[in-house]
Amino acid sequence: MPFDIARTRAAYPALAEGFVHLDGAGGTQTAAPVVDAVAAAMRAAVGNRSAAFVPGRRSLELVAAARSAVADLLGARPEGVVLGPSATALTYTLARTLGAGWRPGDEVVLSRLDHDANVRPWAQAAEAAGVTVRWAEFDRATGELPAEQYADLVGERTRLVAVTAGSNAIGTVPDVAAIAKAAHAAGALVCVDGVHSVPHGPTDLAALGADFLVTSAYKWSGPHLAAMVADPAVWAGLRPAKLRPSSDAVPERFEYGTPSFPLLAGVAAAVDHLAGLDPDATGDRRGRVRAGLAAARAHEEAVFGRLLAGLAARPGITVYGSAARRCPTVSFRVAGWSPAETAAALGERGVCLSSGDYYAYEYFRAMGLRDDGGAVRASVYHYNTVDEVDRLLAELDELGADRDRMTG
Ligand SMILES: Cc1ncc(COP(=O)(O)O)c(C=O)c1O
Repeated sequence: MPFDIARTRAAYPALAEGFVHLDGAGGTQTAAPVVDAVAAAMRAAVGNRSAAFVPGRRSLELVAAARSAVADLLGARPEGVVLGPSATALTYTLARTLGAGWRPGDEVVLSRLDHDANVRPWAQAAEAAGVTVRWAEFDRATGELPAEQYADLVGERTRLVAVTAGSNAIGTVPDVAAIAKAAHAAGALVCVDGVHSVPHGPTDLAALGADFLVTSAYKWSGPHLAAMVADPAVWAGLRPAKLRPSSDAVPERFEYGTPSFPLLAGVAAAVDHLAGLDPDATGDRRGRVRAGLAAARAHEEAVFGRLLAGLAARPGITVYGSAARRCPTVSFRVAGWSPAETAAALGERGVCLSSGDYYAYEYFRAMGLRDDGGAVRASVYHYNTVDEVDRLLAELDELGADRDRMTG
């Protein structure tokens, strides 16, 4: 059955406001079941985690349900799911923890395609330990991150390779499995940033070859919470800084403070929502999530294809990146308009896009675009339509006409 876009859009109350949201990469709108689950968890009597009384048991259940849902989303085990406030915070925790065991002369391999959340925590941990940072470079013309370079980048002193599964700037999907293979052959750990990729298709921790994989629920219809997954045995070998009375069990050992129980209810509801995107899918939730995201991806690719073709057909528009495998995300500039002016003008017209570097710091610096405003980003999510893309393209034509009026 073709993707039921009307049914899908009806699940997002915020779409009724009428904005064109082409900034899923910055955060998606929230699905109604998520809103309901969060509200229900806030209305119910919920205490801090305790087996002693019902409200305390409820919060224990909310945590367990969120772990189980994220495990189904990523092909992980619930005991390997560390929950946290953001991907950035979780990566800092991991970087500090792993970095404490690094020695001068060790090496880490970072990529210039990555969001700074999978760069800076590692670079700072490396600096603190006297560890050398080696850089994987992307192809400036295509935005590809060639996996072959990792054979030269990793060696017996490599302790960690950090790489994205999807660029939040230009969509590139690197061959993470090949990169992980090279890293593992050298005995290094691999931390994969799945924040941008996970919303756009089925994800499998083992297939990626990731030792650690991080995702943020607000990029897939959920609340502002994140999770990092790994084999529980890998977590068990690590000792993060922690408070003395807090649990030393895995995965709780890596979680700081009291979590937001209502938002955790929203995480589980978001995964259930994704599992319902393909109404014909049957079987366990993991299978239904994969089917739902595969159906969503097919829809996103059709919408994104129209966007790319429309941008390419407009001579005043420069598009960055053309990777063969990519998430439905593109960065561009409009001649005569700074990226911030473009986004503001579109925003005035009800079309919501990001501009700047969206924290893809190394990418924009390497491209020489960072100091004069980065680019504008359009990112398709499964609730977007061809009509919305056409609206964006029409508004861009209007901007071009405005520019011609100003300069002519
Ligand atoms: C690819 C990527 N990685 C990491 C992050 C950081 O995620 P968080 O906001 O959960 O820290 C983002 C946020 O936009 C992102 O797009």
